[in-house]
Amino acid sequence: MSLLIKGGVVVSGGVSRQADVLIQGDRIANVEPSIRADAGRVINAEGKYVLPGAIDVHTHMQLPVSGTVSADDFFTGTRAAAFGGVTTILDFATQSKGESLQETAAKRREEAESKVCIDFGLHLGITDLTDQTLLEIPAMINQGYPSFKLFMAYPELALDDGELYAAIKTVSEAGGMAGVHAENMHLIRRFARTLLSENKTAPMYHEISRPPFVEAEAVRRAITLASETKSNLYFFHLSTERGLAEVRKARLQGLPVYAETCPQYLLLTRDKYRGRGLEAARYVMSPPLRGIEDQRALWSGLADGSLQVVGSDHCPFTSDQKKLGQESFASIPNGGPGVETLLPILLSEGVGRGRLTMERLVEVVSAGPARLFGLYPKKGAVMAGSDADLVMIDPAKEVALSAETLHMNLDYTLYEGYVLKGYPVKTISKGKVICSDGHFFGAPGEGKFIPRSKIPQL
Ligand code: URP
Ligand code: ZN
Repeated sequence: MSLLIKGGVVVSGGVSRQADVLIQGDRIANVEPSIRADAGRVINAEGKYVLPGAIDVHTHMQLPVSGTVSADDFFTGTRAAAFGGVTTILDFATQSKGESLQETAAKRREEAESKVCIDFGLHLGITDLTDQTLLEIPAMINQGYPSFKLFMAYPELALDDGELYAAIKTVSEAGGMAGVHAENMHLIRRFARTLLSENKTAPMYHEISRPPFVEAEAVRRAITLASETKSNLYFFHLSTERGLAEVRKARLQGLPVYAETCPQYLLLTRDKYRGRGLEAARYVMSPPLRGIEDQRALWSGLADGSLQVVGSDHCPFTSDQKKLGQESFASIPNGGPGVETLLPILLSEGVGRGRLTMERLVEVVSAGPARLFGLYPKKGAVMAGSDADLVMIDPAKEVALSAETLHMNLDYTLYEGYVLKGYPVKTISKGKVICSDGHFFGAPGEGKFIPRSKIPQL
C-alpha cells in the first residue's frame, strides 16, 4: 500500500522545505520536491506543514497513584495522543520492591500491548537497587530499554544518594540514560508536616510545601553525583528557573546533562492554586506550577537549547478522583492531563507567539526526544527509511480547548478558554492514517513495543 503526501512544507532535520513524501507500507520511501508516482492514495497537503510525529517521552497511562489509577488507559490515552499528533509514547514500568527489572518490564508491556494505538517504549523505574538490579541494567539496555527513571521525590520510591550514584554510573557505562525526578523529599516531608500541623490542608499548600529550591537542590545534587563519572543524566519535568540554571551550568562545563520541561510549566502559574477546592486540586502535580519568571526562563531555555525536550507528564485524574484529596493536599492524586495538547499548545503558544521556530518545535517534541532516547532515525525524522509516522498541521485551524473538543478520558482541561491557532488535522502511524479531521481510524493493539538502541554520549 502506498501513500503520497503532496505539496506540504516538510519540517525535519532543522529545515523546512516544500516537498512530497512517498510512503510504501510502513516506511517513508522518498522525500523530494516533486514526486511522480502512482500511489494508492494521495493526500493534498498544500498550505499545510508535514512534521515527524511527536514523541511524548513522558506519559503515565493507567498508573496506580494514591489509591486510584490515572484515568487514561493505554487505549484511550494513545487514541487521544494520536488526535494531538503524537505517534510514539514512552511510558514507565516501575519496579516493585523485590521484583527483577525483567519482571517489571514484562508486566507493563503486557498491560500496554493489546491496547496501544501508536508505538510505545518504556523507561524502567528503579526503586529497589539490589546487586541483582545493578547486574540486570546492561541486559535490559540490550533488550531495548536504554532509559531509566530514578526518584528523589517520593520516599516510597526514592533511592538514597549512594544508590543514585551507582545507578546513574552503571546505566551510563552500559550505554543508557538515567533520568531523575528531582525534588528533595526530605524538605518536602518537613514542609508538608509543618503545614498540616497548622491545619493548612488546602490544595494551595501543595505548592508551598515544594518551593523552587527543593527542585534546584535535587538537580544540583544529581548533577554532582553524575558529574563524578561524566555520566548521562536527564531531568524529567524541570519546572524552575533555578533548576534550569543548574542544568545550564553543567552543560557549559561539557557534561552530558539534558532536561525536559512540560507545557503546564510554560503556560500556567501557581495562581491556579488560589481557586476553590476541587478546581485548584486539578492543578496539583509534582513539581507544582511556578511563577511567571520561571515560565520566561523555561521558554528561553527551550529556544537556546538549554532544554532539549518537551514532554507532557500526562497523568490525568478526573474531578471525582481529585476529590480523594478534599481533606488534605497530601492526599490529592498528583498529576494532570497533557498528551493530546502537547504539540498543539507548542504550535500555538510557542511558534504562533514567536517563542519557538517551527524547526525548533520539531526538535523539542520529535527529533530531540528520538535522539536522546534511542529512536533516531527510525522515529523523529521525515526521511527515506524512517517509519512513516507523520502529522499534518493546518496552520489556520483554530480549536477552542475544552473537555468536549479533546479526547482524553477526562471531564476538564487545564487549558479551558484557550483558543489555539494551528492544529493537527491528520496523524499517520506507520503509513496508516489513524486520525483525519476529527475522526479516528486506528485500533487498539496496532501500536507496537519499540526496542530502542543504546544512547551514546552525545
Ligand atoms: O504529579 C505528577 N507529575 N504525577 C505523575 C508522576 C510523576 O511524578 O511524574
Ligand atoms: Zn511523570
